[in-house]
Amino acid sequence: MVKVEDTFCKEYSKITEKEQEKLLDIRQNIIKQEKMLDWIKKDTTISEQELSKLIEVGTDVKKSCDIFLVIGIGGSFLGSKALIEAFRPYFSNSKPEIIFLGYHLSTEYLNEVIQHIEGKNVYVNVISKSGNTLETSIAFKMIYNYLKEHDKEYQKKIIITTDPECGSLRKLAQEEKFTSFSIPKNIGGRFSVLTAVGLLPLVVAGIDVAELLRGAYESGDCFLEASKFALLRYHLENDSKTVEAITYYEEKLNSFALWYQQLFAETQCKNKKGILPIPNLYTTNLHSLGQYFQEGRNQAFETVIKFEEVPTTNLYYQDKNLTEVNSIILKQVALAHKEGHTPSIILSIPKLTPYYLGNLIYFLEISATIGAYLIDVYPFDQPGVENYKNKVKKALEEIL
Ligand code: PA5
Repeated sequence: MVKVEDTFCKEYSKITEKEQEKLLDIRQNIIKQEKMLDWIKKDTTISEQELSKLIEVGTDVKKSCDIFLVIGIGGSFLGSKALIEAFRPYFSNSKPEIIFLGYHLSTEYLNEVIQHIEGKNVYVNVISKSGNTLETSIAFKMIYNYLKEHDKEYQKKIIITTDPECGSLRKLAQEEKFTSFSIPKNIGGRFSVLTAVGLLPLVVAGIDVAELLRGAYESGDCFLEASKFALLRYHLENDSKTVEAITYYEEKLNSFALWYQQLFAETQCKNKKGILPIPNLYTTNLHSLGQYFQEGRNQAFETVIKFEEVPTTNLYYQDKNLTEVNSIILKQVALAHKEGHTPSIILSIPKLTPYYLGNLIYFLEISATIGAYLIDVYPFDQPGVENYKNKVKKALEEIL
């Protein structure tokens, strides 16, 4: 299970009586499972029926397709991308190929996707809770038109994941009789990785979703450990440490760090509060941002994702195995940066498996929520994001 180690940030661990009381209140609120907290329990996150259906559909798709397109942005794609990259080998021709799109509007990228899928057996999963997010709509329209023109069986190959009742995607799914899945009303995008949003692409990629769910929901109460992490971040923020380097030594976690970034940024950065989370791959960034953490402004701290057990290698530096070298580096970097006033919180995970990442995901979701309540912000909206969406929408309407 996730363990929070405070060896390199001890001075931020002390908890006051007032904080203790506040945590008790927060716990009560979370247990009551008020609005937007359906991700807290497995049965309100995904029903057995929906899970069986998505495993059946995903397994069929996996067998039949060359390319699986996942179209979505923000919470609608970051979780599945994070987990697929974490568990697929670095170098392989794993089938089917999974391509994400709709998470930016690079015309270069979209043109290349169309060229790349030509002549291949393509299935699509478009994911949007609102059903009207600009980037997703544009990318989906392009693929929908392409498939309609090139594949007589396109209706069998488009799968929609959206709100159970409302929105343009739900309407389209009904009109075209597409296979569809629902995003529970009381689960927001960034908390939706363990719903059909994340699980369907994972099944298609061959990832063990049962283990992922088991790690999240059957590994025991993580409230205390998640509170410890939330409190450390809270104390650090109160000491003007407002930049968090999400630090990892395994490149497969690049997208996981982006999922983490979204979770904490959208949940907590409101009303001029919250911490700026940035992905930080080591040892690469020791040769760039390391300078900032050692000698720059004293504004940052590091949250280090550490795996207790990693694959062994036959690689040695002098008489030390690479695994040992890596753990020496991790410790020495934390020590050095502490001297430079950049403390580290270590999140210790037994190993990189679906079970333990499921556990980490749930732990981080709980901790992000506790942390938001600690700084008195509402965790489950993102008014800043909505603001930009509305402005773009209005400007586009004026042009058209
Ligand atoms: O966490 C959130 O709610 C957001 O990041 C959304 O996931 C993102 O804006 C995409 O929205 P939608 O799923 O409605 O297309």
